[in-house]
Amino acid sequence: MKDLFGKALLDYQNGNYTEDLITSTNISGEDELPLPYLFRGFEDMPKLEKKALKLSNGKILDVGSGSGSHSLYLQEKGFEVKAIDISLGAIEVAKKRGVLKAELKDILNETETFDTILLLMNGTGIFQEVSKVATYLKHLKSLLNPKGQILIDSSDIKYMYEDEDGGLWVDTNSDYYGELDYFLSYKNEDEEPMKWLYLDFESLKFACESVGLTCEKVMDGDHFDYLAKLY
Ligand SMILES: C[S@@+](CC[C@H](N)C(=O)[O-])C[C@H]1O[C@@H](n2cnc3c(N)ncnc32)[C@H](O)[C@@H]1O
Repeated sequence: MKDLFGKALLDYQNGNYTEDLITSTNISGEDELPLPYLFRGFEDMPKLEKKALKLSNGKILDVGSGSGSHSLYLQEKGFEVKAIDISLGAIEVAKKRGVLKAELKDILNETETFDTILLLMNGTGIFQEVSKVATYLKHLKSLLNPKGQILIDSSDIKYMYEDEDGGLWVDTNSDYYGELDYFLSYKNEDEEPMKWLYLDFESLKFACESVGLTCEKVMDGDHFDYLAKLY
């Protein structure tokens, strides 16, 4: 990984913001991911994220914390928060912004236990593909204190396969329509392609049941997205 995501966060944090990240997938063209969005304050967060923060309690793990926006909000509210990310640049930025406990770590290598585990901004993306969901869920479950909760958001992206007449086309190369190849570039450099998973609520619920987790929908978002609570 070249960590172009982290490089972009560092540029923004250091006052060198000149351009945004460019993203695309195997089923969609180029899109800009504005860097200021990755530094959003509570007021600019989507309602699902606001809800997740309001429901957070106890000792909290922010998985894939990025620049640390959610961690900072919760820390300021007085919670004990640990932020982890596999992007070195992201962890450097989270620390610079004031996150007290930020570590370069893959979620699968986390061993502490928590009362609340957050996975936000399409939290299922980190699972990469359907075949890995149970592995990640089992591990997340092992990190929960008694009465602990996992708060995770995702989207049902079936709408992305609708043509103008309302018909559906499906990518037969993929096991599941939410399993995408994700491409990111920054300042004319391309990141290595990644897998990024969007999981509809029913599929998440099914996977949770297979590992002994209860999965409840907390609320729907404005565009086929939802927030779920697992425990
Ligand atoms: C879409 S970004 C979301 C960042 C942040 N949560 C936000 O809402 O602004 C996903 C983040 O997850 C991190 N990530 C991906 N796989 C991970 C893993 N296995 N363990 C920890 N972090 C991971 C990425 O480096 C990236 O910072």
